[in-house]
Amino acid sequence: MSYFISFEGGEGTGKSTQIKILKERICKTSNYQCLIIQEPGTTNLGDKLRVLLKKETSPDHSITYLSELLLFSAARSELVTKVIKPNLEKPNLIIIADRYVDSTTAYQGFGRKLELNQIELINKIATHMIYPDLTFLLDSDPEVMFQRIISKSETNLPSNLNTRMRKDIKGTRKFEEEPIEFHKRVRTGYLKILKSSSERMVKINANQDKGIISDLIWQKIRNNIPNLK
Ligand code: TMP
Repeated sequence: MSYFISFEGGEGTGKSTQIKILKERICKTSNYQCLIIQEPGTTNLGDKLRVLLKKETSPDHSITYLSELLLFSAARSELVTKVIKPNLEKPNLIIIADRYVDSTTAYQGFGRKLELNQIELINKIATHMIYPDLTFLLDSDPEVMFQRIISKSETNLPSNLNTRMRKDIKGTRKFEEEPIEFHKRVRTGYLKILKSSSERMVKINANQDKGIISDLIWQKIRNNIPNLK
């Protein structure tokens, strides 16, 4: 039987870094294989929808919030059917998801303020009722994270570019461009999910050193999955 772990959190909270560290640790110390999946993405349709959903659009080409919810959910259903389900029964496999269903509740439910009952129903359909065994919520005040994102991205770009060119180079960043209030609501959403899903969700302070964070994640995983050193 495989294990299914998801990573959740706001922008810039270090999910991808922690997933990379975790994968290396698992490969080094056990017989488990890792399958990393990304939402939206990983499937053909998911990759196409990722570009569409993350791209900044002019007002004429904007997508309604309900359509956005349905597109994220279509990507998820595809991922569950084509990737997650076929791998769930495999022995010695750990599926690690960079975002999953909680992102929809936090971003579309709390961030976009769509009807939570509708989201719950759509989430059930899109996940085929398959939920992670364990979810790590990397939690931080969005103000702190955005300071970090700005200073990191500015230092990686040549200084003689105007704002439009900077955006083009940095690529698809629709959600990062939302006002800070949106991101605060997303965080509130995640903390509400934590309260109702404490059996599978663990909160970790994302402002700590990445080594400390990866040790906390490792401790929790070793307590849950047998035969990890
Ligand atoms: P990321 O993979 O770089 O984090 O980008 C995915 C973006 O899409 C991120 O801003 C969060 C957003 N998102 C939603 O709004 N709803 C969802 O269901 C998912 C999976 C992601």
